[in-house]
Amino acid sequence: MSIARIGILTAGGDCPGLNAVVRAATKHALKNNIEVFGFKNGFDGLVKNQYIILDDKIVSGILTRGGTILGTSNLANPFNYTLPPLASPEEPKDLSSMVLHTLKTNRIDALVAIGGDGTLSMASKFIDMGVKIIGVPKTIDNDLSATDFTFGFDSALAVASEAVDRIHTTAESHHRVMIVETMGRYAGWIALRSCIAGGGDICLIPEIPYNINVVAKAIEDRQRKGKTFSIIVAAEGAVDESGKMAVQKKVEGSTDPIRLGGISGIIAAQIEKMLNVECRVVVLGHLQRGGTPTAFDRWLATRFGAKAVDLILKEDFGNMVALRGTDIVSVPIKEAVSKLKKVDPNGQEVKTALEVGTSFGSPTLG
Ligand code: F6P
Repeated sequence: MSIARIGILTAGGDCPGLNAVVRAATKHALKNNIEVFGFKNGFDGLVKNQYIILDDKIVSGILTRGGTILGTSNLANPFNYTLPPLASPEEPKDLSSMVLHTLKTNRIDALVAIGGDGTLSMASKFIDMGVKIIGVPKTIDNDLSATDFTFGFDSALAVASEAVDRIHTTAESHHRVMIVETMGRYAGWIALRSCIAGGGDICLIPEIPYNINVVAKAIEDRQRKGKTFSIIVAAEGAVDESGKMAVQKKVEGSTDPIRLGGISGIIAAQIEKMLNVECRVVVLGHLQRGGTPTAFDRWLATRFGAKAVDLILKEDFGNMVALRGTDIVSVPIKEAVSKLKKVDPNGQEVKTALEVGTSFGSPTLG
């Protein structure tokens, strides 16, 4: 079978480097005389048959641009569609047949699906329905086990590390405890690495449950050494010993059904009650997903996009591109979404952090 036309979509949360993938995949496809349809707003564009035709002019100059020129959605799940006017949260619908119809009507031979574990799980279901798909792993969370890195993580890490750097100024001048809250969902990569890179004092991550008394003691230990300020880097998914997470909201039908956030406020109130110290918070939120991708993310995204089209040319479908060392390889999408990549509490990175005096607020570590 020769490939004449492919579709590309970006789904899930936006992330620096999406445009770089779209550009690389489009350029490589066009060089091989393959037409490229860019479906709008993730799988919503396939449900509603909304697309733009990607040509050399459209993808020119987007390598360094954050966000996605195609738009995205983490709500448009065709298997459990909840968006009006086609459905509602009260009456979700399975609209996967409309996706198949769009692909057939437009004679799309293969699809490049760029997204995180939610998007790739949907892609996996469409593969079972006969759609030829190549997955490209994106997420600032870096929580996909099949790839050394997802693109977007390095850019988010740069923002978080700079925030930890900058917060030192006020913490030190005002003798405060400052908490920087990072994203990352159920994985602590952004928090751990920005804490190491930015010189944070206490690091709270989902993989290592904290005890607030141990956190308070770490602050007091620093005070006894004459250090009148402390910086806590807290992942949004950090859990205390009872396993409780700070959930902002539940979102029906989303690929991300639980919206996390607010852990820093909870900890700040507890610390202020326990110690005679002013405790303030900075929630980085979507700043971590905004702006231009770092050089590493542009490099990775470009290599991922080109490799995705390579796999299409070889008709090696059902795979996700992945980074191993400096090589781009392919792994079955099903395998890629089967396991989240989490920080190993007994691993080298945590050990390094402990060795430079970082506390994880854990009664058993450190
Ligand atoms: O998965 C990326 C991510 O930014 C997570 O770190 C965060 O929990 C979530 O998405 C936030 O999603 P939304 O933009 O829908 O609030």
